[in-house]
Amino acid sequence: MTGEAITIRPAKRADVVAIVKLLADDPLGQNRELVVEPLPASYYKAFDAMHRAHHIQMMVAEDADGQVVGCLQLAILPGLSSQGASRGIIEDVRVVSDRRSQGVGERLVRWAIGEALANGCKLLELFTHESRVDAQRFYKRLGFQPSHVGMTMRF
Ligand SMILES: CC(C)(COP(=O)(O)OP(=O)(O)OC[C@H]1O[C@@H](n2cnc3c(N)ncnc32)[C@H](O)[C@@H]1OP(=O)(O)O)[C@@H](O)C(=O)NCCC(=O)NCCS
Repeated sequence: MTGEAITIRPAKRADVVAIVKLLADDPLGQNRELVVEPLPASYYKAFDAMHRAHHIQMMVAEDADGQVVGCLQLAILPGLSSQGASRGIIEDVRVVSDRRSQGVGERLVRWAIGEALANGCKLLELFTHESRVDAQRFYKRLGFQPSHVGMTMRF
């Protein structure tokens, strides 16, 4: 399979289980997510909040068989700096483990780059954990620069 067989589309509520499984499908995510049947209601509450927020788009990559094989969240944030420029913020980029390195992640991120440009963003930013060296190589290849030191406070 290549990235060409992939459709990038907005996530639906029915995709939440598949998305949460994607988020759990890596060494960092497996300790953060709770994949149980049924899923905790907090996931659906968060999805509904994103759905109402018109500046946030949760996207999935769907293969030719209708399977969700990747996801990405893009927020477009208005701001005053840089003469009132908007910025795009990418979160939660995942590709299912048995479909990695086949161009799916690139399709998702290229969609976000196009969407940010179409919305007049002057900047597109993302965090990736310092341990994710393979992902850092992926983002650099797509044109991102490690220009800032990311700082977080986890509650
Ligand atoms: C990072 C990720 C989204 C890239 O999607 P993808 O479909 O595998 O990427 P593409 O096929 O478009 O590009 C391949 C590149 O992705 C990266 N990649 C591949 N497998 C990876 C993995 N298991 N973990 C992290 N990055 C990976 C590599 O940089 C690879 O390039 P290489 O050929 O030089 O090794 C995907 O691999 C993934 O979900 N990884 C695990 C979770 C993660 O790190 N997410 C990013 C959080 S910021």
